[in-house]
Amino acid sequence: MAMSAAIHGSATFLYVFAFLVANVGGRHHRSRYACSPFSCGGLRNASHPFRQQGDPAGCGVLSYELTCRDTKATIHINTGTYYVVEINYTASSFWVVDANLNMHSSCPYSRWDQFPQVYGQKEGDTISLAPSDQVTWASLLNCSQAVWNNGRYKPVACLSTSNSFVYVVTSKHPFYVGDLEASCGRFAMVPLGGGWGKTVPENASFEDVVRFMRNGFAVRFPYPYAMPKLTTREISFAELYRIFREDPNIFHRVWYLLMVDSYVWNGMLGLSKGITLSLWIAKLIAGTSPLYIR
Ligand SMILES: *[C@@H]1O[C@H](CO)[C@@H](O)[C@H](O)[C@H]1NC(C)=O
Ligand SMILES: *[C@@H]1O[C@H](CO)[C@@H](O)[C@H](O)[C@H]1NC(C)=O
Ligand SMILES: *[C@@H]1O[C@H](CO)[C@@H](O)[C@H](O)[C@H]1NC(C)=O
Ligand SMILES: *[C@@H]1O[C@H](CO)[C@@H](O)[C@H](O)[C@H]1NC(C)=O
Repeated sequence: MAMSAAIHGSATFLYVFAFLVANVGGRHHRSRYACSPFSCGGLRNASHPFRQQGDPAGCGVLSYELTCRDTKATIHINTGTYYVVEINYTASSFWVVDANLNMHSSCPYSRWDQFPQVYGQKEGDTISLAPSDQVTWASLLNCSQAVWNNGRYKPVACLSTSNSFVYVVTSKHPFYVGDLEASCGRFAMVPLGGGWGKTVPENASFEDVVRFMRNGFAVRFPYPYAMPKLTTREISFAELYRIFREDPNIFHRVWYLLMVDSYVWNGMLGLSKGITLSLWIAKLIAGTSPLYIR
């Protein structure tokens, strides 16, 4: 028992220690060079991070490889295929529309299983293909009983049957579905809008959701994977708490708790980084030593 507790304690310590070392060492970005600008489908002058099939290895970012056909440039994001309709290098993001969407249907989806990863994919020290953090998420819910008393649940008549009731809920928070009604399960999530000034309101009807789906959503260029920097006050306490609550990863949550200490000691009390680090280590030893004494 004591043994496993000790191992667990030292594993936590090693994790934090590794993190500190990694941070002290600075972040190394693999040097990737820009491919020469190219035209692809209707896009002119596509450049880094985009690349096209057959480009030399090391140019552009592999997950941003475009397939160019006639008038369309397509990209794969998680399980889906999307048309790239616009690139905004100033905003470091681009605009995509689901390639399997039936543009003429008022109930357009054939592939509800197609969706991007909510937080993008981690590749080395960067996050790739993350939907813009400004997107609004439409969650589709399938309920075995009708829901009458929840204004945020907008009925989707065309997908409902006599014994299954389908609703859409839109929210800025990807996993928020109001108070999930007991008889409901989520079966799809669709990102909407999110690019330069084109945000989609919450509480949208299904007709609005379909309209916004045809316009697509914004996806970010690769960006460095980093925990929020509290000491420089880049992030408010409330925001940190929100991230903490929503992050399912236990190691991240431990790290956020340490960040709260740093926020108070370094950010609010103005202690130096060195003292903050010493306090951390003292706290860590105090927190894990009972595990060794036992
Ligand atoms: C192509 O894009 C680059 C930057 O990505 C820009 O500097 C250049 O002016 C653009 N050329 C044209 C013809 O749009
Ligand atoms: C690109 O994004 C910036 C803001 O990030 C915005 O001001 C600008 O209008 C966008 N460009 C286009 C062509 O939409
Ligand atoms: C909703 O659930 C019912 C019962 O499980 C199923 O028959 C129906 O196909 C589902 N509807 C959708 C749109 O997934
Ligand atoms: C959402 O819309 C419904 C009716 O359309 C309304 O009753 C409800 O108050 C709205 N909720 C929010 C949070 O705007």
